[in-house]
Amino acid sequence: VSDSLPVVGDVLEHLVVDAVDDEGRGRCVLGQGAQAIDIAVRGAFPGDVVAARVERIWASRRLVQARSLSAAGEGPLHKERACAHRGPCAACPLHGVDEGFVLAFKRARVERAFAELGLVVDIEDTVPGSGQRQKVKLVAAGTPGRLLLGHYAPHSHDVVDATGCGHADDELQDAVRAVRQRLDAHRLGPAVVAAVIARRFVEGVAVVIVGTGPPPVPLALLWPETVRGVAWRVPGAAQSENAIVGGVVHQSVGELRGTSLGAARGDPVVEVDTFCQADPVSAQVLVQKAVDFVVDQSQPGEAFADLYAGTGAFARALVDRGRAVVAVENFPASASALARVPGVQAVCARVEEAGQELASFAPVGIVADPPRKGLGVPLVQALVGLPARRVALVSCDVDAGARDVQAFVHAGFRVAAVIPVDLFPGSAEVEVLTLLLRD
Ligand SMILES: C[S@@+](CC[C@H](N)C(=O)[O-])C[C@H]1O[C@@H](n2cnc3c(N)ncnc32)[C@H](O)[C@@H]1O
Repeated sequence: VSDSLPVVGDVLEHLVVDAVDDEGRGRCVLGQGAQAIDIAVRGAFPGDVVAARVERIWASRRLVQARSLSAAGEGPLHKERACAHRGPCAACPLHGVDEGFVLAFKRARVERAFAELGLVVDIEDTVPGSGQRQKVKLVAAGTPGRLLLGHYAPHSHDVVDATGCGHADDELQDAVRAVRQRLDAHRLGPAVVAAVIARRFVEGVAVVIVGTGPPPVPLALLWPETVRGVAWRVPGAAQSENAIVGGVVHQSVGELRGTSLGAARGDPVVEVDTFCQADPVSAQVLVQKAVDFVVDQSQPGEAFADLYAGTGAFARALVDRGRAVVAVENFPASASALARVPGVQAVCARVEEAGQELASFAPVGIVADPPRKGLGVPLVQALVGLPARRVALVSCDVDAGARDVQAFVHAGFRVAAVIPVDLFPGSAEVEVLTLLLRD
């Protein structure tokens, strides 16, 4: 390849990879000046010299995405992979990559997002994850009788099988395979099944099948004996951002509730489709660091707010430290689990519309863990009107998080710490906890 762009399917030889981008793709540049072509190579990392097949071209940006074909010539960042499939994974580009490199990559991602907004702050080292996830969400493709459950390859409509995921434990993987086998036996293909979601509880695995319409066979026929229960959902108006699945339950069999992994003694059992953090181990570190910070210098009995509370990971930790908690969550199944936690006043509402309850509670500290789009500047401006002196902000999109932090800083808060947390090991995603305070 010199100045002209390659075409999809071409094999590019001897690519010397010397960088990595935000999506976890190795990068190199071919040619120079206006003729230069940026190559993003899935499955390759700095130190690799690889051959790669072109899978997507953005001609106006002279950017080409290719998939590494090389086992030979791989550099020192490649470590053993636990995944049953040949890499690179569509969902976990960093699976099988040196852990120190991955943690540094995630820290650098946060540093850049903050620096781009002029927030020059120390970023702590990334808190590592356990590498095990408690839920998998797989989209359906393939044909009736040969259903494929997996993830979209980046920037494409191609679904790549992911039923042997290296980040899901054996029980979770077995449950997905067993459900797929039954869907195949009844020839229920992608026209009928949109996705399969499995969640590991302490007590076992429950599965949600997201259908495009009602189930064409009795659900009991799709229920493997090793699985606690199966729900069939169809798209509906009652969607929840960040619940593990949207839509409405059309039918269910068996038990769809259980105890989240990493839950403390006495925690409520929750519905399969309430939010849970992907990696329960790093999530516990996140909760502890956030709660330790907000309660510091406060007194037992003082009031705190847990915003976007889910089933109350932060609220319960605050109650354990003797604080009164108002927890705001708009997904009814999660809010009713919150209402069962002693010491928590659950408010089932959108945070944006809970201003009055929050004002009457007068929290001295806030934990906020919004969905990907973050809080947004207007909500930050409303929250700074509360008496809270300390805020722990949990952001799953670093750019939205940096924008929210900037809004707090403009309103007189200062940044006490920024802590990246690897809640999605193997993926290029990073969660960031920002601790903010004002005098
Ligand atoms: C990232 S999760 C955090 C959950 C919880 N903090 C935890 O760690 O388990 C975001 C939660 O916010 C809820 N949610 C989304 N939009 C909301 C809104 N506008 N107001 C209140 N809750 C919302 C979702 O249902 C989800 O449970």
